[in-house]
Amino acid sequence: GNNNLNAKLVLLGDMGAGKSSLVLRFVKGQFIEFQESTIGAAFFSQTLAVSDATVKFEIWDTAGQERYHSLAPMYYRGAAAAIIVYDITSTDSFAKAKKWVQELQKQGNPNMVMTLAGNKADLEDKRKVTTEEARVYAEENGLFFMETSAKTAINVNDIFHEIAKRLPRA
Ligand code: GTP
Ligand code: MG
Repeated sequence: GNNNLNAKLVLLGDMGAGKSSLVLRFVKGQFIEFQESTIGAAFFSQTLAVSDATVKFEIWDTAGQERYHSLAPMYYRGAAAAIIVYDITSTDSFAKAKKWVQELQKQGNPNMVMTLAGNKADLEDKRKVTTEEARVYAEENGLFFMETSAKTAINVNDIFHEIAKRLPRA
């Protein structure tokens, strides 16, 4: 059948968690050591072929700074998928990710494919959030979970691929 899907995807999470870096890695295959903090939000698109469909992601990379929090509903409203990003070296960023999950559970599209990304997995020696506690939290909340590194590219394509596979088909 005609399985060309357009899917709005939003990235949410604390400032500095690596949202823009994950998008840059996925869309352009690049990594910038001194990535600038996002102002408002940035838009990208990228097409991905999965076994039974071609998915065009329309990606909203939101700004994690608190002063932009009130803009977030504009970006997650109507989204088919969300990636909530935290930094494995920051317990604050994990707490913030949980807040985003709560907000999406209350206000988001109930069919949204929600994914938790523990980013900066390359910084194992600075890790503060264990894989196990994040895995348990994700399981309890029905989230798909992966640890990623925008720097080394570990699991970056995979996370988008897994989301594409989980999107409801027309
Ligand atoms: P805001 O736009 O402020 O919300 O931040 P953000 O979530 O978009 O974070 P950003 O992508 O700007 O990354 C913040 C910093 O972390 C940058 O200096 C990146 O180079 C660095 N960074 C991002 N991802 C990784 C990663 O996987 N590993 C390492 N070591 N550093 C990373
Ligand atoms: Mg950013």
